[in-house]
Amino acid sequence: MTGGAGYIGSHTVVELSLAGFHPIILDDFSNSNRSVLDGIERILGTRPETMEVDCRSHKALSAAFQSITARHAISGVIHFAAYKAVGESTKHPLKYYTNNVGSTSELLQTMGEFEVANLVFSSSCTVYGQPDSIPVDEKAPIAMAESPYGYTKQVCERIIRDVHASNQPLNTALLRYFNPIGAHPSSHIGELPLGHPNNLIPFLTQATAGLRDPLTVFGDDYPTEDGTCIRDYIHVVDLAKAHVAALNWLASRSEACEAFNLGTGQGNSVLEVIHSFERVNGVEVPHRIGPRRDGDITAIFADPAKAGTAFDWSCEKSLDDALRDAWNWQRALQS
Ligand code: NAD
Ligand code: WQD
Repeated sequence: MTGGAGYIGSHTVVELSLAGFHPIILDDFSNSNRSVLDGIERILGTRPETMEVDCRSHKALSAAFQSITARHAISGVIHFAAYKAVGESTKHPLKYYTNNVGSTSELLQTMGEFEVANLVFSSSCTVYGQPDSIPVDEKAPIAMAESPYGYTKQVCERIIRDVHASNQPLNTALLRYFNPIGAHPSSHIGELPLGHPNNLIPFLTQATAGLRDPLTVFGDDYPTEDGTCIRDYIHVVDLAKAHVAALNWLASRSEACEAFNLGTGQGNSVLEVIHSFERVNGVEVPHRIGPRRDGDITAIFADPAKAGTAFDWSCEKSLDDALRDAWNWQRALQS
């Protein structure tokens, strides 16, 4: 699992282990903290096997694959490693192209050399931009990317499709995540944004904890019922479980290369999220209405039927569960 020490990766380590897999984390800890390994150990009772690897380095990846294949058969690779801050990507595009695209091509090269075919790739609903109709399914066209970050996901999907169409055996699930939120219900792992959070939930929890200025709601003049943007917020544990299901699906295929939406199928506005958070946790979220944020689309939520059928998977947790777990995680971080 490249990037396995990150937010989605750490929850997936837990779910894979509970399902009987032996996950191995390859991470350079550029956007994560080694303390996440303690959290995983508290949940599972064992420390996950971890290698410090920069996936941009073919030499480092080869050494890791060499060491792993000497001991285990690799049933698949989950490629989480990437930078993900949309705003930063517009200021430092080369940082994003080098890491996100570079790591993916080095990884594909190494997988070919070691004859590993099964790949689960972390893509994003950002590839759709503002779709013509919602819920959006996988047949919707890919939109012109709004940011270098978004473009790296489109390019990586294309690189994977091109390699799949070549002579190199590759069996891939391209997972397009909607908005992952929440934390493990144990509060031992969760999202650890380094520095100023840009995403809604980490900013909201930090503002509510008094660590930040009040949350700014980015615009209330959108053509939605309450004027604020609509997104599909999926509990990170449900998302993690989808990776287990995707690996099992790949094990039953040999030459797949397919995209899957991973969302709940339900859209919620920013104000609905704030009010649900207040109701579920019995706290007040300090917030004010501000101007729109550049690049935001009005509304998107998933049609997750394809993943539901293929993976025999569906979301088990509600928005309330995710908001409760997010707040408990924020409080655990401060205690
Ligand atoms: P994250 O930053 O928490 O995790 C990414 C991990 O990758 C980090 O531990 C980081 O240290 C590691 N990493 C980065 N570059 C690396 C490199 N060159 N070599 C080795 N490790 C490296 O992010 P996340 O939220 O867990 O996201 C995981 C993946 O899912 C990313 O590809 C991201 O683009 C994608 N994604 C995330 C979201 C979201 O909202 N969180 C939504 C859609 C897609
Ligand atoms: C959610 C909603 C904001 C912060 C991003 C990436 C996307 C994917 C998921 C990786 C929006 C509003 C936010 C704030 C606010 N990531 N908001 N005040 O923009 O849907 O998607 O993360 O692939 O590619 O673009 O997520 O959490 O930033 O915003 O009002 O302080 O909350 O306008 O409507 P977004 P987000």
